[in-house]
Amino acid sequence: MSTKGENSVEQPALYPTIFVIFGITGDLANRKLLPALLSLYSKKLLPKRFSVVGFSRRSFSREEFRDFIRSKINIRQGQFREEDVKHFIDHVTYVQGFFDQQESYKTLATKLLEIDKSWGQCSNKLFHLSVPPELYEGILHQVHDTKLALPCSDETGWTRILIEKPFGNDTKTAQSLDALLGKLFNEKQIFRIDHYLAKEALQNILAFRFANSMFEPLWSSKHIDRVHIKLFESIGMHGRGKFYDSLGAIRDVAQNHMLMMLALIAMDKPETFSASDVRTARGNILKRLVSISKREISQKIVKGQYHGYIAEEGVAANSKTETYVRIEANLGISRWKGVPFYIETGKAMAETKTEIDIYFKNTSDKGSEHDPIKQNILTFRIQPDEGIKVRFFVKTPGHGLLTEPKILKFRYSDVPSFGVMPDDYERLINDVFIGDQTLFASTDEIMASWKFITPILDNWKDLPLKKYNRGVNGLD
Ligand code: BG6
Repeated sequence: MSTKGENSVEQPALYPTIFVIFGITGDLANRKLLPALLSLYSKKLLPKRFSVVGFSRRSFSREEFRDFIRSKINIRQGQFREEDVKHFIDHVTYVQGFFDQQESYKTLATKLLEIDKSWGQCSNKLFHLSVPPELYEGILHQVHDTKLALPCSDETGWTRILIEKPFGNDTKTAQSLDALLGKLFNEKQIFRIDHYLAKEALQNILAFRFANSMFEPLWSSKHIDRVHIKLFESIGMHGRGKFYDSLGAIRDVAQNHMLMMLALIAMDKPETFSASDVRTARGNILKRLVSISKREISQKIVKGQYHGYIAEEGVAANSKTETYVRIEANLGISRWKGVPFYIETGKAMAETKTEIDIYFKNTSDKGSEHDPIKQNILTFRIQPDEGIKVRFFVKTPGHGLLTEPKILKFRYSDVPSFGVMPDDYERLINDVFIGDQTLFASTDEIMASWKFITPILDNWKDLPLKKYNRGVNGLD
């Protein structure tokens, strides 16, 4: 038997599986995981024999737990057939347990064994850590020590661990978490979630870049002036104040989602599109991010906090946490020499949108009121209203040779066969089932991004915190 829990035989996706959720009563489980599982269930994409086992501190009777899940699961009225919702919830059971008590994990092990016995099979087991990051270490130790992560047989029943961002708080803590994971589990068992990688329109960046010969030759400092990556959200804290206040925008989304977007734009073509080659290519470009020194920080970074943030529930009254950040990042390779990559994100902004603008170099003329500077812009719209736009210039009809900008546009929603965008978590869960790690972050990628972010954090307090009103579109 494998000592670290990953047996060599890959099980088909629909092999009996138990999905264990540590922290099932929390926001993430009810907002993302359970709706995604329900959706897969309603599409008949889950194994016939599957079970979700929730683990948390609260005490519930079977009925109370069902009612709790039914009332908390984040689905719209009419989104699923009521029958599917009901049958899905029949598959969700509960173990009351304390994250720091070994007895609780033994109770969980007994529960998993009972399910396997009732199925007469040694099933696959997935363990999702849907808990605050400070609990990761303790849970990982317990899962290991109580042998929960050992497959129940040599031939069947893999076990996998899903871990959410933030993966550490800086380079040191990320290294120690990674070392722990590496000590306790096999790399093939570990799925580090950055749900942005699973967004359809983000995956399209690679397809678009490498399937269209007209853009890739222009993909360098010779033709590209700058890149602007924006992740704006109009909402504020929505009950997440306590968690967010310990992170701020830089740790919450810049270190992970936004640097992953940068990687997809700037990376070289991978040798193949296998998980390992794609992750290597993403990691290689992230390793080339140039550190921002103490001297440069005030020129290259702006941070802000919206008025009213400190009044949000769970936020410290004297909080200096940033809810907005803009960073000018540079890559130390000739292909991208002199091209700034701006990453900009904020809460309480004018609108919710994630998009990436590629600004091509201006044509040589200076432009005037009647004949503007001609700059082509290629925009990847990640969400909402996913699509691609190209801004180009045409001659204004009539005498003379004046031009004006026009837009070529592709929207997913205009293509009936593209249907509704697949949900990020649905995609991720499906990929964990089939053991495909392409859309999960590797150690190299995570470490490279912390290597860039940690020196910034070391000088973070020196940077003034600008206050802004809700509803802005960026800060100066
Ligand atoms: C999460 C952040 O990782 O991503 C949140 O913690 C943010 O603060 C969210 O709102 C954005 O994800 P999405 O998929 O809603 O764009």
